[in-house]
Amino acid sequence: VTNSKTILAALALAVFTAVAASKVVAASSDTPATTTATVTFTAAQVAAGQKQFTQSCVMCHGANLQGISGPALTGSDFAAAMSTVGTTLTYISENMPLTAPGSLSHDQYTSVLAFLLSKNGFKAGGDPLTFDAALKSDVKIVK
Ligand code: HEC
Repeated sequence: VTNSKTILAALALAVFTAVAASKVVAASSDTPATTTATVTFTAAQVAAGQKQFTQSCVMCHGANLQGISGPALTGSDFAAAMSTVGTTLTYISENMPLTAPGSLSHDQYTSVLAFLLSKNGFKAGGDPLTFDAALKSDVKIVK
């Protein structure tokens, strides 16, 4: 009898330890999602981005980003095509403006990106967006 009690106690301890350990694993695997799931930019970047957009992009994409000769830059088609903040910046810095790809500075592309984000449901606030951080961002553009 004593023996089987000891075995039961050992089993209970083993199960408890396993559950506790799995909770620790679950908590740590949640961590990357929360640390990468934000993107911040300032109102000044949005304002600079809007100016740049008016100079370099508006003729093909429209003042309301509704699309003219180029596609619309808001809405669910845009979100689906671009997917994340990082892929959007990669795309625009390598391909746009269509007539002169890569011709803007990193700061100019970053502020145009801030402007596009502001038109796709993101709010200005917090630290300024940097080109390198935005390039790596896997925050989804959801619309
Ligand atoms: C001369 C016209 C023109 C100019 C100027 C231009 N674009 Fe474009 N843009 C296009 C066209 C056309 C496409 C579609 C290209 C394709 O599908 O291969 C496009 C595609 C895009 C896309 C991808 C959208 C999607 O849903 O696939 C983005 C983002 C974009 N442009 C941003 C910009 C930005 C930002 C600027 C200014 C820095 C700019 N464009 C300037 C014509 C232009």
